[in-house]
Amino acid sequence: MTALLDLLRRRIAVDGPLTVAQYMAEALGHPRHGYYVKQDPLGAAGDFTTAPEISQIFGELIGLWCADLWQRMGAPGPVLLVELGPGRGTLMQDALRAIRRAAPAFRAALRLHLVETSPALRAAQAARLADAAPAWLDRLADLPDGPALVVANEFFDALPIRQWQRGAKDWHERLIGWDEESGRLRWELSARADPGLALIPEAVRDAPEGSIAEACPAGLSHAALLGRRLAQQGGAALIVDYGPARSAPGDSFQAVRRHAFADPLEAPGEADLTAHVDFQPLAEAATQAGAEAHGPVPQGAFLEALGLRARAAQLKAASPARAAEIDAAVGRLAGPEQMGTLFKALALTAPGLGTPAGFP
Ligand SMILES: C[S@@+](CC[C@H](N)C(=O)[O-])C[C@H]1O[C@@H](n2cnc3c(N)ncnc32)[C@H](O)[C@@H]1O
Repeated sequence: MTALLDLLRRRIAVDGPLTVAQYMAEALGHPRHGYYVKQDPLGAAGDFTTAPEISQIFGELIGLWCADLWQRMGAPGPVLLVELGPGRGTLMQDALRAIRRAAPAFRAALRLHLVETSPALRAAQAARLADAAPAWLDRLADLPDGPALVVANEFFDALPIRQWQRGAKDWHERLIGWDEESGRLRWELSARADPGLALIPEAVRDAPEGSIAEACPAGLSHAALLGRRLAQQGGAALIVDYGPARSAPGDSFQAVRRHAFADPLEAPGEADLTAHVDFQPLAEAATQAGAEAHGPVPQGAFLEALGLRARAAQLKAASPARAAEIDAAVGRLAGPEQMGTLFKALALTAPGLGTPAGFP
């Protein structure tokens, strides 16, 4: 038994079963044994790969997307360039290189802020982004005041979710308890009908018996915080992640270990835990807080509109020997069977900025 599993077993013995959100928060963020705290999980040798690790084009296009919005904002200086969950810093490294070439005045005006809880990944970011002298923050709420351009790729899917199951009449929260006999974690259902009902998306509340509903309270509070600050202080945010454009019932809680799906209860702290991002309530939370929401649009369409093919052609002309590799990367990012459709981009903007590039 791992140290974290033993801690969870003892916590359940004292406090009773955990919500999925409590379990996810411990498995990913426990200060000693949490998945993101212990290691850099990205890349071929790790557990999973993300868009910026697949091709430099992803970060470059996002950098130019930010530069365009900065100009529309009236080119404020200084301006905060913020990334939530920057992983290895690859996206931002590619973005800054493109910004330096295409928009040197934006490069001079930006102050880089990285919201990251993982010490292992902060070290990787420091190695790649030293030139930009980033400031690190534990929480979005700690960001200093000022107009901001915010980027979040595969950040919201790591935020803890809650789940409910529809009974004959009411919704009951899904909980994680301990099975003494097998010495393993197990699924349970809260006996009482749940007071968290208001969190369940309206479109899902009347789903039939046996349905699973999900909500991400931390995602909603991040979206509301972003919406409020963009409306009051100016700027825009780009959220790229995987999930449905509209709320629907279903269990999307999943574990990935060494590039394969695993049982989410099997080895807390040893596998990445995520859930699909429900974009609809995120957009609603941000608009209720005063921002405008655009999209979500499929990642493939978003990247194509920003010039994915043209940039790939440039890179192939510069390095013909890498042509097949570049084509394969474009296919992974934009292909409908790959990341092109399941992944989506949602933009939040201060009112009056207009429709950002890449959004119809
Ligand atoms: C799936 S990785 C994505 C990394 C990167 N954006 C990329 O696309 O390669 C999730 C990132 O979010 C960070 N993270 C997860 N939960 C967080 C939280 N609650 N606060 C801040 N960072 C968090 C992780 O440490 C990691 O950097």
